Amino acid sequence: MNAIRSVVRGVGAYLPARMLTNADLALMVDTSDEWIVQRTGIRTRHIAADNEVTSDLALAAARAALADAGLGPGDIDLIVLATSTPDNTFPATAVSVQAGLGITHGAAFDLQAVCSGFVYALATADNFLKSGAYKRCLVIGAETFSRILDWSDRTTCVLFGDGAGAMVLEAMDGADGRGVLTTHLRSDGRHKNKLYVDGGVSSTRSVGFLRMEGREVFRHAVGMIADVITDAFDATGESAQTIDWFVPHQANRRIIDASAVKLGIAPEKVVITVDQHGNTSAASIPLALAAAHADGRIKKGDLVLLEAMGGGFTWGSALIRW
Ligand code: UT7
Repeated sequence: MNAIRSVVRGVGAYLPARMLTNADLALMVDTSDEWIVQRTGIRTRHIAADNEVTSDLALAAARAALADAGLGPGDIDLIVLATSTPDNTFPATAVSVQAGLGITHGAAFDLQAVCSGFVYALATADNFLKSGAYKRCLVIGAETFSRILDWSDRTTCVLFGDGAGAMVLEAMDGADGRGVLTTHLRSDGRHKNKLYVDGGVSSTRSVGFLRMEGREVFRHAVGMIADVITDAFDATGESAQTIDWFVPHQANRRIIDASAVKLGIAPEKVVITVDQHGNTSAASIPLALAAAHADGRIKKGDLVLLEAMGGGFTWGSALIRW
């Protein structure tokens, strides 16, 4: 019996034109290129223009993903957009993307799981497609974290960047082994004060700034990432040896390297963009996927492992036969 699978039809990305280097940051706060590179692996990041909002980035990434898929907006009947930096408190940023694409059918909504947002959105879309409720979904991660950074706090402002990535998923019967093979989502709200924004609609009627106990987040990250990847391997019988590509959330090069070592994933299988993008939260995985697809690394039939961990804490993994 054939089961419906969510198959990747295309991916796309958008990065704002303006770049902010470590040297630029050293003129703003007491930091150095050496410290940032050594502690995080980040060299530069993109920052949205004053007149660019999250939906502008998301729309550009969505158009790129549709072009890569060889599909038009009319083919899409679901948009799931992961962001922690929406254009407005409401409506959802996803409906701005829907309107921008000229889509008037189907559904569009936002989802918020901070840096794990893309994996959460992928799992959500996968379940809607597998159930037969929708046929083709744009899964988007889009962020303008520059708007919630305290630019006087060197412990956080050097870490993040803006950007968007998108994926087109299609429900296929008899997908020939391709598609999303498994997804695993976790959260533990006891850690919610270790990475948060100190404002919000219902608490302060304002937006607030990102606050993080970096060392505490770091301390938990590798173990959580390893656990949820082990879940993905256990569910599918795949392993560090059988995957072709590991595309982790891009927060810190040291966390990525330590996770790969702990899981026995060979360094040449690891896709790294944190050096160029910084941490773009929900956008980081689709940005990295789009980069590795565009340069010919990720090809049809490859086994691709995704993972993310972030505020909440939230964390999750996905295994995709491309
Ligand atoms: O995407 C969501 C998940 N988020 C993450 O994964 C982030 C996880 N955390 C991290 O990536 C790391 O903890 C950081 C990169 C944030 C910090 O690295 P660290 O090795 O944990 O450094 P630290 O916080 O222990 O700070 C070490 C020192 C401190 O000085 P003292 O107390 O030893 O004198 C900091 O004040 O480095 C200082 N420091 C800086 N120095 C220069 C902190 N930020 C900076 C900076 N430039 N930007």
